[in-house]
Parts: sequence; structure tokens; C-alpha cells
Amino acid sequence: MSKALEGVRILDFTHVQSGPTCTQLLAWFGADVVKVERPGVGDITRGQLRDVPNVDSLYFTMLNSNKRSITIDTKNPKGKELLEGLIKVCDVLVENFGPGVLDRMGFSWERVHQINPKIIMASIKGFGPGPYEDCKVYENVAQCTGGSASTTGFREGPPLVTGAQIGDSGNGLHLALGIVTALYHRTHSGKGQRVTVAMQDGVLNLCRVKLRDQQRLKHGPLKEYSQYGEGAPFGDAVPRAGNDSGGGQPGWILKCKGWENDPDAYIYFITQAPVWDKVCKVIGEEGWITDPGYATPEARLPKLKAIFARIEQWTTTKTKFEAMDILNEYDIPCGPILSMKELAEDQSLRKTGTVVEVEHPKRGKYLTVGNPIKLSDSPSDVKRSPLLGEHTDEILTKVLGYDDKKVREFKDSGALGGAKPMAAE
Ligand code: COA
Repeated sequence: MSKALEGVRILDFTHVQSGPTCTQLLAWFGADVVKVERPGVGDITRGQLRDVPNVDSLYFTMLNSNKRSITIDTKNPKGKELLEGLIKVCDVLVENFGPGVLDRMGFSWERVHQINPKIIMASIKGFGPGPYEDCKVYENVAQCTGGSASTTGFREGPPLVTGAQIGDSGNGLHLALGIVTALYHRTHSGKGQRVTVAMQDGVLNLCRVKLRDQQRLKHGPLKEYSQYGEGAPFGDAVPRAGNDSGGGQPGWILKCKGWENDPDAYIYFITQAPVWDKVCKVIGEEGWITDPGYATPEARLPKLKAIFARIEQWTTTKTKFEAMDILNEYDIPCGPILSMKELAEDQSLRKTGTVVEVEHPKRGKYLTVGNPIKLSDSPSDVKRSPLLGEHTDEILTKVLGYDDKKVREFKDSGALGGAKPMAAE
């Protein structure tokens, strides 16, 4: 079975998290991803949050699987020549530099397109055109400017950022979709095009249900928000809704047995209307099945807090896994709060390749995420991240076809940075 993106070559100019997420995804699908890094340092994440001295951090290794690394000083004239060579032989250039960096480097879209009219050039920036287009942006800034922080957390508390990296990894996914779409378009247009994703836009796309609620607010209170049942008035913007379910089915996080000592002994419980009678049976409130005060979703809305408090009396008698097993027998939608420790040890995630253990020459074994998107005929495997500049020679000779003399010329010029001139080797 062949890999889905076999034959596609990516010039990977990405760093930190958003861009590398995108190119890692393409690499998992089989694209040849050539990561260009600054000589001596590389992607800044190689050295950030290190758990083992002098070894690439997990931050880096978990975002750069299946890639090849070449070091090029892009401010060196010979480095620029090398880049031009790579642009000619690549299908896609991906970058997430700060605004204007690539232009300053001499590789504007116009120039890149001139060098290779078939190339797709894909970028992530913090904002689209507008007042903030020149601003640098990191994950949490995007969560704040895209509507996530304002709608996350509890009504009484400040805005909150989420653990899910929707600004970075979320936008890496958006960009990857843009790239494969442009690749498909190229199969009949024959032309490359520019693909851009603004982090603010991507986060807003993921927060669309809140934009929905913003418009619903004009027509009255949001009855499925628990604040409605609590009699708290709504303001003119969508409020933070704690653990309310985003959909039309009320839900909340409830304590389970052991919650006093285990911060993750909780379960998400949804009182889906079609299984309301089963919920009542499980918790021993059969009377609520026919009681007009509880029998319909509308009747229950103002009482949700009290209803969940009653359900919690039942969930605190079970561990989250016992509760999950019982509720699933009745088709009641629920989910235990799984800690990172539990996920790391989960054998079913290992079997599906969603969590993978790989071997690294300097760090030894480490866990990383595998491809969450499964294709039936195009498997993806996970290979360790490259060492800094590990593939520099290989790319010069095999991808660019340079002979020894030409390779020496580049090394002597300093364009490859720390690499010693061949004569001295
Ligand atoms: N050789 C020589 N110089 C290089 C190089 C290389 N191989 N790779 C990068 N550089 C230089 C750039 O040319 C630039 O120099 P300049 O400012 O003199 O033109 C410099 O490195 C800094 O690049 P920049 O991207 O601005 O890095 P930063 O560390 O200052 O900012 C971000 C980091 C993430 C804030 C910024 O890149 C950004 O806003 N990116 C877009 C949004 C994004 O993706 N954010 C999330 C990241 S997870």
C-alpha cells in the first residue's frame, strides 16, 4: 500500500508549533518534508522546555516526526541560492514566520511563484489583512482574539485559555487542508497558488457555535445555558458557560467516587432527551419520567442545576469507569475525564497508532502522537524527528543533485553554517 502523499515534496520553513503541526501531518501521509533550519540553533523549540540536557526537547520531537532537516543560513547569498534550488524542486513551501520575514529574506510570493509557477506557498500568520496584520502571535493570543477565551471558563471568573492548542495545532490542521486542496486544484489547473490561514480566523472557525449563540441572543436568553435556569440575566455578548454542553443536549461534569483525592475523578454526563427515561431509572428517580415538571426538555431547562446535583449523588457512588460502563449499557452519552497519564498508558490508543513510542538516538524511547486521521488504503507510520542538519548532505546530493565540488562550494561559503568546510574534514 502506498502512502497518500508519496511524491509530494514540501519545503518546510516552519517553526514552533502551528506550522510544524501542518507539515508533520503531511509527512505522516507520506510527503517528503524538508525542514530548513537556522544553522547551529534550528527550530527554537529544539531547546525549549528541555527535560534532558543537550537533547532535542519533546516539544520539538513531537512536532517534527517523519521530516528531514537541512541547515541553511537564509541571510547568506549562497544560502539564498540553495533555497532557490529547493523552491524549484518542491511542490509546496510552508512557513509561519512573523509578518514580513519572508519578504525581507527576498522570497515574496511573487518571487517564489516566479521561480516555480507550480509551487503552492502556504502561510500561517496571527491575523489576516487589517489593523493587526503586522503583529506576531502565539497560541494564547489567538485563543483570545478568536473568541475562545471570552467564551471559556465560568461566568463568575475571568476568560480562560484551553489546554487544547486550537490556535497552533488547530491552525496547522486548517493549513494542511488548504495545501491538499490547492494540490488537488493543481492537478487540473496546472498552477500553484497562495494559501493563507490567519490564527484568529481558524480559532473563530472552531468557535462557530458561539457566533451562532451571539445571534440567538437577540431573540431572547440562551435557555440551554445553566445561567438561564439560575435566573442570571444575559448581557449583550455570549457569556462563559462553564461546562455546559455546547449543543442542544444539556450536559455537565459530575464528581465520581474518589473525587476528593483524584483531580480527574469526574465524568461528563449528557441528559440527552431520547434517553431521559433511562437516566431517571439509573439514578432511581422513575417518578421524573411522567412528572410534567421533568418529563419534557423545556420543563427541565430551568431545573438543570438541581437535576445534575441529583445525578451527581449517583455518580459519586461509582468510579468514572464504572459509571461509564453502566451508562453505556443504557446508551446514555457520557465520558470519563481522562488524565494525560491515563491517555499515555491507554493500550487501545497504542493499538490504533494514535499514541506511538519511537526510538531517538539521543533521547531513547519517547511517546508521541500518531496520525489521528486514518486512511484505509494509505497507512501512515511515525518516524522520529531529525537531528539538526541530519540530512543536509543527503538533500544537497540526492534532492538537488549537486556534485562534491558544488557541495564544497556551499559548505565553504558558510551557507550551511556550522558544517565544517570539506577540506578540513
Ligand atoms: N537563517 C537565517 N535567518 C533565519 C532563518 C535561517 N534559516 N530562519 C529564520 N531566520 C530569521 C528570519 O529571517 C527573521 O529575521 P528578520 O526579523 O531579521 O527578518 C528572524 O529569524 C525571526 O523570525 P520570526 O518568524 O519573526 O521569529 P520570532 O521568534 O521573532 O517570532 C513568532 C516567532 C511565532 C511570534 C512569529 O514567527 C509569528 O508571529 N509567526 C506567525 C504566527 C505563528 O505561526 N505563531 C504561532 C507559532 S506556534
